[in-house]
Amino acid sequence: MALALTLSSDKARAQGVDIDAVFNCSADGPIGTQTPEQCLSARNSVLSYCTSCHTFVPVVKAQKSPDGWDALLAAHRENVPEMSEAQYDEMRDFLKSHYNETEPVPILPPALENLGTNEAA
Ligand code: HEC
Repeated sequence: MALALTLSSDKARAQGVDIDAVFNCSADGPIGTQTPEQCLSARNSVLSYCTSCHTFVPVVKAQKSPDGWDALLAAHRENVPEMSEAQYDEMRDFLKSHYNETEPVPILPPALENLGTNEAA
């Protein structure tokens, strides 16, 4: 598992993505009630489990309310049976605190900027 986690963030870095800006887990970042360690664990979950059908782009471009994330994640649960409930809840907290109506939409490299859910780059 450690290898898979490393590979997925390396792939994003290789695409020119500033991982620490798009998935900001610094102590003064939008980590909500999470510790930086929990945030990093959640971001690894997104990069590991949420990039097989589509890229991470629609995830980080979404500006959802807490209810909006709950609805998406309820509908999406069966897509990631390999995630534990604890991992899923940790990822839910991460998504709500980072990608919402008050946080700015992350700027991505041009090649990724317009990818929707139909492309698996
Ligand atoms: C088994 C395939 C699959 C996996 C794995 C998957 N998704 Fe999706 N996702 C889809 C499909 C298909 C769509 C487009 C249709 C839709 O909106 O449900 C989508 C759309 C989305 C969207 C955009 C739609 C919206 O309402 O904003 C977001 C955000 C999203 N997925 C988040 C995630 C997250 C977070 C994960 C990891 C837990 C994930 N996806 C893993 C198949 C998948």
